[in-house]
Amino acid sequence: MTRHDILNDPSIGNKAEAYEAFDDIPTNPNLERTIGDVINARYGRREILRGMLGVTATTTLFGTSALVAPHQGNAAPASRYRFDELAWGNDETHHVADGYDAQVLLRWGDPITADAPEFDVMNQTAAAQLKQFGYNNDYVGFVPLNDDGTRGLLCVNHEYTNEEVMFPGLGRQDRAGFSGMTPELIDIEMAAHGGSVVEIAKDASGVWQVVRDGKMNRRISPLDTAMTIDGPAAGHARLQTNDDPTGTKVIGTLNNCAGGMTPWGTWLMAEENFHGYYWTDNLDADGKPVIDPTSREAASQKRYGVPGMWYAWGQKYDRFNIDKEPHAPNKFGWVVEVDPMDPTSTPIKHTALGRFRHEGAETTVSSDGRLVIYMGDDNRFDYQYKYVSGGKVSGDRAANSKLLSDGTLYVARFEEDGTVLWLPLIHGAGPLTAENGFNDQGDVMIDTRIAADLLGATPMDRPEDAQPRGDGTAYIMLTNNTKRGEDDLNAANPRAKSSFGHIIEIKEQGGNHAATMGTWSILVKCGDPSLAEVGAQWNPDTSENGWFGSPDNCAIDADGRLWVSTDQGGSWAKTGKSDGLYAVETEGDARGTSKLFFRCPVGGEMCGPYFTDDGETLFVAVQHPGTDGTKNLAGFERNSTFEDPATRWPDFDPAMPPRPAVVVITKQGGGKIAV
Ligand code: FEO
Ligand code: CA
Repeated sequence: MTRHDILNDPSIGNKAEAYEAFDDIPTNPNLERTIGDVINARYGRREILRGMLGVTATTTLFGTSALVAPHQGNAAPASRYRFDELAWGNDETHHVADGYDAQVLLRWGDPITADAPEFDVMNQTAAAQLKQFGYNNDYVGFVPLNDDGTRGLLCVNHEYTNEEVMFPGLGRQDRAGFSGMTPELIDIEMAAHGGSVVEIAKDASGVWQVVRDGKMNRRISPLDTAMTIDGPAAGHARLQTNDDPTGTKVIGTLNNCAGGMTPWGTWLMAEENFHGYYWTDNLDADGKPVIDPTSREAASQKRYGVPGMWYAWGQKYDRFNIDKEPHAPNKFGWVVEVDPMDPTSTPIKHTALGRFRHEGAETTVSSDGRLVIYMGDDNRFDYQYKYVSGGKVSGDRAANSKLLSDGTLYVARFEEDGTVLWLPLIHGAGPLTAENGFNDQGDVMIDTRIAADLLGATPMDRPEDAQPRGDGTAYIMLTNNTKRGEDDLNAANPRAKSSFGHIIEIKEQGGNHAATMGTWSILVKCGDPSLAEVGAQWNPDTSENGWFGSPDNCAIDADGRLWVSTDQGGSWAKTGKSDGLYAVETEGDARGTSKLFFRCPVGGEMCGPYFTDDGETLFVAVQHPGTDGTKNLAGFERNSTFEDPATRWPDFDPAMPPRPAVVVITKQGGGKIAV
C-alpha cells in the first residue's frame, strides 16, 4: 500500500487511522528466517524430532505464560495489584477502577500562562495557542518542586494535530489537497505541536490544580522554539541549511511521542514520525513524491520515508520543503532534552542517541553508574535501541547533561537461543565505513537505520515504548505488525500478520543495564486468548476484561510493577475494547496476568502513564478522543468531524469538540495506587 492508496482508501477514516496505515509501509529491506529455520537453528533438528524440546526452550520461544497451568480450585495466584478490575467496553467517556478519582487536569486550549487568553475554539490564533496547552498529549513526566511532592512541573508532549475535529468546517485536509489550509491555520497547527511545561500543585483538599502563573510554565513548538544540536552530527554538512550554515541550530521539534525524564530532572522528548511533515512539489502522475536518485540524501530519504506530506507546512515554510532544503529533515528524528526548571533554557537535540522514529526515551542508571536509555524505532520491521553513556551519573547537573553527548548507541539482535546482543553503532567498525556511505560518526547517527540494517539487527513488530526497571530488567512494547509474513518470522517476533502485538522482557547480564548482552523472553502475546486463531498467550487467570491488544506506552510504578497502555488505532473493533491502562504482573505465579484499570473514551488512545515517586498519583493522557475507528461505534457509525464528533469528551459541551486531555488519578481517601 502506498501513500496514494492510503489517502484514497475509503475504509480509512481520519488522520489517526491513516497514521496507522502509513506505518504499514515498511522501509527495511532486510528479511529474517522462517520460524522453522529459527527453531532448527536454535535447538537442532534432531532434538525437535526426538521431542526433546524442553521447558527452557519453550519458555524462551513461546513465553512463560504458555507454561502456567490453569490453577486448581479457588486459589488464584497472587497479583500484586490490589484493585477491583474495571469492566471492558467502549463508550463516550472515560472510566477508572472503583475507589479511584480520575480528574481532568489539562485540556487542549487551557491557558497555561498568566497572560494567556481563554480558549476560544471558534476564533483560534497561533499567538493564543502558544500560551495554551497543546494538542494530542502523549508523554507525561513530572518533576517535584518540594520535598513532599505536592508541587511540581508536568512535562507533556503534544504529538500531532487532527484538523478535522480541531477546526470548524475544515475536514480532512491531506485528502483535499490541503485546499482549506490557510497560512494562519498552518501556524495554529504548528503552535499546537511540541510540548508544555505546567506547574501543578495539590490544594488544601488534596486535589491537583494547575498553577497558571507558574514561573516555569512554557510552551515548546515547531513554530518558534529555537534549539541547538550537539553530539557527533552537530555541524555536519548534512545538517547545514540556508538559514543555518553552521548545522548546529534548528527551529522546533516534531511529532513528540513518548519520552522520558533523566535522573537529574530534565525532560527527553522523542521525535517520532518527523517524515510526515516534509513536502515536495516533485510528484509523479499519481501524485507520489519523486526522490532524485542522484541526491546524497536519496537512500536516506527512502529509508526514513521522507517526504511524508501529511501536513502542508512546507507550502509556507522552506524548512519543511525538501526541494528547497534537502538537509532539513536531517535535523529531526532525534531526542530533545529540555530543562523544565529554566524556562529560558534552549532545548538540545542529542545526536548521539541516533536518528530514527523515536518512540520514547526512558532512562535508568546502570549498576556501574552509567546513564542507559531504551528507545524503540516505531515502524514495522524496525529496531530496538539502547544508549549507554561513557561517563557516570553524578550530583553535578551540568556534568550530567554531557552524558547525552558522549556514549555508545546500540541496536538489538534477538538471537534464537534467548540471548539479546547489543550491537554498537561506531564509525569504522564492521561495515560502518566510507565504502558503505558512512564517512564519519555523524553519518552513522544521521542514518542510524541504515547502519543498523548493515549490522544485522532484528526487525521487530513496531517497537513502541520501552521501560527499564533499574535492576537490569527492561520491557519492550511491540504493538503489532500486520505485514509480517510467515517467511519473515523470527523468534522474538513469532506471529505472522500480528494484529495485537506482544511484550518482550529483557534481563541484562549481571543485572547491569549497560551490559552488551542479556537474555530475552516473551512476557505475553496480546489479543483475545479465547480465539485460537489469534495465538494469544496470557496467564490463564487473566479475565476477559484484562487481556488487551496493541501495547504502546508503559511505566514502572514505585513498587517496580509494570503498567501498559494501548493504542489499537482504528482497528479497535478487532477487540471491541477501547484503549486503556492495564496492570501487567511480571513476577511469581501471576506472571502474565493483566487487569484493566482505566479506559479511554471512544476513539481515544491511552498515553502517559506516569507515576509520582510516592506512587500516590498517576497521570494518564487521552490522545485524540473521538477519532479512531468511530465508524465501528454502534449507533454512531461515521467519521467524526468538528461539528459531528462521536464524543465531546471531556467537556460534553455542544459548542466544544472533543479535547485531548491529561487525567490525574488518585485513590479515594489517599494512599498508593493499586496497593
Ligand atoms: Fe506515537 Fe508510536 O506512537
Ligand atoms: Ca506511542
